Amino acid sequence: MQIEREFGVPFPGRILPQNKWTQTALKAMPAEGRLNWHELFGREAPVVLDLGCGNGRSTILSAVSRPTHDHLGTDILPVVIRYARKRGNQRGLANLRFAVLGAHELLEQYVEPNSVAEIHIYHPQPYYDPKQIHRRLITPEFLALVHRSLQPGGTIVIQTDNPGYANYLRDVLPVFFDFHERIGRWPDAPKGRTRREILALKKKLPIFRGSGTAKTDLSTEDAVRLAESLPPPTFDADRRLRDLDRLA
Ligand SMILES: C[S@@+](CC[C@H](N)C(=O)[O-])C[C@H]1O[C@@H](n2cnc3c(N)ncnc32)[C@H](O)[C@@H]1O
Repeated sequence: MQIEREFGVPFPGRILPQNKWTQTALKAMPAEGRLNWHELFGREAPVVLDLGCGNGRSTILSAVSRPTHDHLGTDILPVVIRYARKRGNQRGLANLRFAVLGAHELLEQYVEPNSVAEIHIYHPQPYYDPKQIHRRLITPEFLALVHRSLQPGGTIVIQTDNPGYANYLRDVLPVFFDFHERIGRWPDAPKGRTRREILALKKKLPIFRGSGTAKTDLSTEDAVRLAESLPPPTFDADRRLRDLDRLA
């Protein structure tokens, strides 16, 4: 059997014979209105989003190990989504879709409020150049959108190897979520859930990991109001950490 590896770490799942392949491409967003999860996956099941999914390693890991959950991974880079889709198709996964789409746009325009069980964000781009800081994904306004998208009790999972981003997250996440930082690696993937995590572990970078549930005593309107009072992510991302990005 052919085993795919990334930096020596096996890629989750098995490549099936071609007659078992699926189509994981989500090619078009609805012209009007929001995504209907039941129509998209053909069943009622908890929905998991992986935002900025890169080559889809974490999305595929979760889809393979949790057939009871439906998954959508998105990224703004078409090339990484091509890799993700190919691997998802080859593994015959029916509980998985990938789309080329920005995370903010997805939540704001296409995700029905209170409709998602889990939102995962692994290693959001820190954007080192001060001119690019406005592109950082995790802002208070974005976290209010995550809060709005999650079902009551829904979970955010987030991690970064950038110390500036980690400190910012420690400050803002507890406003919207009952958040707990995780000490130690994910038990389901001790060598890394994602491509970036594998690289960061090899470089022995400290990794901030954690998860939390959306606060149930915070209304969507209050979350938006609170977000307006919180600082934007203007931390120094430390350009010396940029080398790993070229590899990733
Ligand atoms: C450092 S990589 C991490 C990829 C993957 N999650 C991992 O951990 O290996 C950051 C990813 O976020 C994507 N990205 C950047 N801005 C985004 C946005 N606004 N919406 C969705 N994806 C974004 C980039 O294209 C890139 O693939």
